[in-house]
Amino acid sequence: MTSSFDKRSRSLWMDVEVAPNARPFEGARSCDTIVIGAGIAGISTAYELAIQGQKVIVVDRGSIAGGISARTTAHLAPLCDDLTSEMIRLRGEEISRAFYESQAAAVDRIEEIQKTENITCDFRRLDGFLFQAPNTDSAIIDDEMDAVRKVGAPVHRLVGVEALAHCEQQHVLRYPRQATFHPLKYLQGLVSAIEARGGLLYAGTIVHAVEESGGDTVVVTADRGNITAAAAVVATNSPINNTVALHTKMAPYRTYAMAMRIKRGALPDALYWDTLDPYHYVRLQPGDGQTDYVIVGGADHKSGEADDADARFQALEAWARNLMPALGEVSHRWSGQVLDTIDYAAFIGRNPGQQRIYVHTGDSGQGMTHGVVGSLINSSLILGREAKWVDVYEPSRKTPSAIGNFLRENTTVVKNIAEYLAPGELSSLDDLKPGHGAIVRQGLSKIAAYRDDHGQLYKRSAACTHVGCHLHWNSFERCWDCPCHGSHFAADGTPLNAPAVSGLAQVD
Ligand SMILES: Cc1cc2nc3c(=O)[nH]c(=O)nc-3n(C[C@H](O)[C@H](O)[C@H](O)COP(=O)(O)OP(=O)(O)OC[C@H]3O[C@@H](n4cnc5c(N)ncnc54)[C@H](O)[C@@H]3O)c2cc1C
Ligand code: FES
Repeated sequence: MTSSFDKRSRSLWMDVEVAPNARPFEGARSCDTIVIGAGIAGISTAYELAIQGQKVIVVDRGSIAGGISARTTAHLAPLCDDLTSEMIRLRGEEISRAFYESQAAAVDRIEEIQKTENITCDFRRLDGFLFQAPNTDSAIIDDEMDAVRKVGAPVHRLVGVEALAHCEQQHVLRYPRQATFHPLKYLQGLVSAIEARGGLLYAGTIVHAVEESGGDTVVVTADRGNITAAAAVVATNSPINNTVALHTKMAPYRTYAMAMRIKRGALPDALYWDTLDPYHYVRLQPGDGQTDYVIVGGADHKSGEADDADARFQALEAWARNLMPALGEVSHRWSGQVLDTIDYAAFIGRNPGQQRIYVHTGDSGQGMTHGVVGSLINSSLILGREAKWVDVYEPSRKTPSAIGNFLRENTTVVKNIAEYLAPGELSSLDDLKPGHGAIVRQGLSKIAAYRDDHGQLYKRSAACTHVGCHLHWNSFERCWDCPCHGSHFAADGTPLNAPAVSGLAQVD
């Protein structure tokens, strides 16, 4: 039981195996750059270095591109998804303009790569529509238009979105030159391009530590040997090498997505978002020629703070059917996690205090474009070239104007630790039904207990192996979520999502 990714939660992309032949690492090796984590960030970075002639190795604890990148909805949208007006408020016009330019450059880079590498990944340029949610003030649209103009992005103001029902009177911004694609087909193409240039990818290889030693970096794997490299990039979504500093500046949110069929042509191919917080997001994906898939996402909550996925999917579906009455049956439902930083931009660059270890984290709901921005910045730094946009993404930056977000996000940790004093959710393990998980008190400790569909009981410590927060059961994904910094563990305690590296302790 190493993954909760079964049929209950399956994205539209997961039928594509990105690197089915990737095997676990064994022995000892050296290379120019080792990349830890094979999602969009890690694979894109390895690609940029491989095309410059570097010998690269990529390792992943699971399958290649089997992490959050397999759960995205892959809107390639360069404007801040928390609103450009908000970003200007926190970081000013100049940085916000550089943020937009870097994100737009990431979309251009994806377009260029899929063309030069002949990757068939359904890439297309299209419009994006930000529309006023019902019963909200249209001032938000006015403010956003001013902000978007200030950062130099093209924008048009409209009333009504023709394609959506009940939206005739809504105020709307149309953004040209957005894009979208099939994320795993794209990553499959990148992997082939890396391998064609001599790069190596290893799946099933857990990295326990990454250290600077002499003039090198050493990556220590769990029982499989060490890899030595001139530089290392930690692209594990949430960093495994940085115990607390970066984690206090971002917070994990679970977000939900579902796909529904629709007759081809019934909804114009575009990206759509509303102005709610959390916002709803919509895109299309080509289906079998007669039908397309409409992907609808949203209903976010802080990780571990709700366990009501069915209700959230029902609300998403009702919202979508109201706007798109032609929608057919639901074909896929899944969830995943994004790491929202307190000032909306990722952390990319040299890991604070280190010379040869680079980090990429803090996707903020724009992890596809952030992943590619990260690949451009970190590869330039590693190659000793001038890197653009470093100030926007500097990992050690402080943003005094974001202190409110910082305090709000970090109260979760304080509240969480207090949960160790609370009673268990069940008074006895006998009350635990098959297919369910719950926290049970045993003396002074808390147990994360799960009984599988055949009745077998798994008893693990309820303390996250990152820095000890109290875990919460997620019945939709059948995993344990950590509300503090975003680790997930399978029901048998195996880590699924960083920053945790080790599994949950077994309880006898
Ligand atoms: C439902 C949903 C919708 C989204 N929609 C969008 C969108 O429309 N547009 C957008 O831009 N972004 C979107 N995002 C965000 C985006 O998908 C993610 O931010 C992005 O995919 C993260 O990529 P990554 O490479 O950082 O992480 P991942 O893809 O998670 O890759 C990290 C890898 O590191 C590996 N790893 C972890 N620990 C270790 C270890 N100790 N040793 C070895 N390997 C390790 C993991 O196994 C994993 O494969 C969405 C996310 C979700 C969940
Ligand atoms: S992820 Fe940090 S304590 Fe769990």
